[in-house]
Amino acid sequence: MTLPRHVAIIMDGNGRWARERGQLRTAGHKAGVVPVRMCIEECARRRVEALTLFAFSSENWMRPSDEVGSLMGLFMDALDREVEELHAHGVRLRFIGERHALSVRLQSRVAAVEERTAANSGLKLQIAVSYGGRWDILAATRALAARCASGELRPADINESLFAHALALGELPDPDLFIRTGGERRISNFLLWNMAYTELYFTDTLWPDFDVAGLEAALQYFGQRERRFGLTGEQVAGQDS
Ligand code: IPE
Ligand code: IPE
Ligand code: MG
Repeated sequence: MTLPRHVAIIMDGNGRWARERGQLRTAGHKAGVVPVRMCIEECARRRVEALTLFAFSSENWMRPSDEVGSLMGLFMDALDREVEELHAHGVRLRFIGERHALSVRLQSRVAAVEERTAANSGLKLQIAVSYGGRWDILAATRALAARCASGELRPADINESLFAHALALGELPDPDLFIRTGGERRISNFLLWNMAYTELYFTDTLWPDFDVAGLEAALQYFGQRERRFGLTGEQVAGQDS
């Protein structure tokens, strides 16, 4: 079966999972740590090159402040708890998103974890926190505009490759497979530029219930797709050129 090189996941449905059990939304976020660990382990075991997890969007800052606070606390705890094990498994961890919006404490923790795992050659794990696809495109645009203004770059030199490298995912290949749990069929401002040709997989399973079988089903779905990138099916099959 063809494996995706890069899997990107919107981990959605924590709040509803908790509500169904008469619990606080925060309990759903806590329960959501289990499938995060599972996906990292499974992707590493299957030798998927990169995994990008959407943990907190630019828009999620508008949620009630106690929920935002508890999510930030969860990130901090998870980092403290998991970093050595991730490191031992050769995972290279990076954060993508607007870091200046995070607390100074969390920013420095994030920087320390990135530094600790930077030389690892296993799974490339990206956690998107305070991330938005539009923010990403604007930040890249600003960076390139500044290089043009300084005379280092000419506008005519800006091509798709240069632009992609200025985005948060940098040199990573575009996601091949996108998974969204929780039943919504939308992208919610995730990797807007990078998902131009990504295969989209949606499941009604709520994130805390997402298990190995669920991931396997998504990978099976991907394995059955014919990726055409604008060509005809015959061209892809090599019958016509
Ligand atoms: C996803 O679950 C986690 C975050 C967005 C932080 P939600 O919290 O969006 O859960 P639902 O969609 O309300 O069930
Ligand atoms: C998307 O989920 C963001 C994350 C999972 C981090 P949301 O729950 O915020 O998305 P919408 O609001 O339903 O589109
Ligand atoms: Mg949601």
